[in-house]
Amino acid sequence: MFATMGALGLAPTAQAAQRDQPFRALSASDFTLTGRAAAKVVIVGGGIAGLAAAYELGKAGYDCTVLEARDRTGGRNFTVRGGDTTVDLSGTKQTARFADGHYMNCGPARIPQWMITLDYCRELGVPIEVFTNVNADAYLYNESTGMTKPMRYRTAKADVYGYVSELLAKATNKGALDKELTATDQEKLIEFLADWGELGDKLTYEGGSNRGYTTWPAAAGTPGVLRGDIPTASEIFGSAVGRYFSFEFEFDQAMLMFQPVGGMDQIPKALTRAIGADRIRTGAVVSKITDKGNGVSVTYTQGGRTKVVDADYCIGALPPNILAKIPHNLGSGVQSALEAITPSSAAKIGLEYKSRWWELDHNIYGGITETDQDVTHIWHPSYGFHGERGVLIGYYNYGSDADSYAALAPKQREERAVAAGVKIYGEKYRSELVSSFSHHWRQTPHLEAAWHYTPGGPDDPRYKPLNEPTGRVLFAGDWLSYMDAWQHGAFSSARKAVTALHTRVLSS
Ligand code: PHE
Repeated sequence: MFATMGALGLAPTAQAAQRDQPFRALSASDFTLTGRAAAKVVIVGGGIAGLAAAYELGKAGYDCTVLEARDRTGGRNFTVRGGDTTVDLSGTKQTARFADGHYMNCGPARIPQWMITLDYCRELGVPIEVFTNVNADAYLYNESTGMTKPMRYRTAKADVYGYVSELLAKATNKGALDKELTATDQEKLIEFLADWGELGDKLTYEGGSNRGYTTWPAAAGTPGVLRGDIPTASEIFGSAVGRYFSFEFEFDQAMLMFQPVGGMDQIPKALTRAIGADRIRTGAVVSKITDKGNGVSVTYTQGGRTKVVDADYCIGALPPNILAKIPHNLGSGVQSALEAITPSSAAKIGLEYKSRWWELDHNIYGGITETDQDVTHIWHPSYGFHGERGVLIGYYNYGSDADSYAALAPKQREERAVAAGVKIYGEKYRSELVSSFSHHWRQTPHLEAAWHYTPGGPDDPRYKPLNEPTGRVLFAGDWLSYMDAWQHGAFSSARKAVTALHTRVLSS
């Protein structure tokens, strides 16, 4: 009924909000009006792509069964709370001890406004709140360029933009742009630069309030004390703090960003409820996929027993590195395409503190500190402000940095991450710590990747057997999209598979 209301414009649906890539959600009338029967579909993988496929197919009445190897749905969408336990591929066991109400999103943690992930939050009734991706008061710290203390983002921006503006204004006034710009345009450019770089009367950069204060402006008698120690142009470019500024312009990272209230796994939980938990088999490890021409047979083991699901169609919604390990008869084109896509590493550690010292002592409420340390990114929580405790992400790193932390025991990971943080924030980074939990995707059973590298992009001809399969097994996942490493990629890929499957069923 909801879908029908949506089609009539009476209810907000994911489809209604999807302006650029129209997706027609399936509906029961597709079958009832054509006298056909909905087919049976087995979906391998209960991550976002698999769940989205089952959810969308369910709108038309398809008989879906989802096989999920882990004990919960969501795949890489994984939120850890106190009491949650993981065992990685090398047998390392961890149990999170976070206090009630605190969590870390080990996988996806931020959602841009334009992604269809938010449309699903709306449709499924998952409440969202702002995720702070950029914060003027977070820090930048590059030890390798000789910085001995961190710099506030706002201060770094004021200095970099200030000197760039001054230099460009000077060059313009010396006639360096006479071939490119008319005299009037040069005047406009200088007007812009003077404002952008907070330049003085002589078009020189001499600092200003954009850099911040050491004593904040307050009541009459307290005009504030501007932050001193203005670096020279040579010092500020030498520090390379400017390397972090383009991040906030990126199409997939620009503010505002959002997160589900209470943890990212509210999304798979809501999808699981909407699909019906009885349609999802957890702890079901698929061992064989056979296209029989007139149907598909999927073999799996669950609780030590081997079982088979027979269906009309199958959607393979596992990561390619895992799919490639499962015996199948789908052809060498499928196998070589799966093997061409390679897994990438990423990791996070959640550091639980007994006080929110970053709010109390540093006036930082959410946002990200950027470093050239092996911890890479330090995330301040975008929830629980002014509460007693908080969980900070002490590292979010990739590639060899993630792998080198994974090689350590959990306690050593914590110590190494804390040592990096102390350089930036001081001793409270160590003394206020109460617990930690670390997660490494390359070492996670049944996933073994944070995301993937797809040489040539998802439309490279070699992936045609995955994008346009001729048999009864279709594929879906973020790794088959232009938004790899985003739930949006998984949702949009699932929609594509669902549309292709439905078109086939309706034309058969
Ligand atoms: N989506 C993930 C994130 O935002 C991974 C990613 C990072 C993807 C940077 C693209 C760019 O952290």
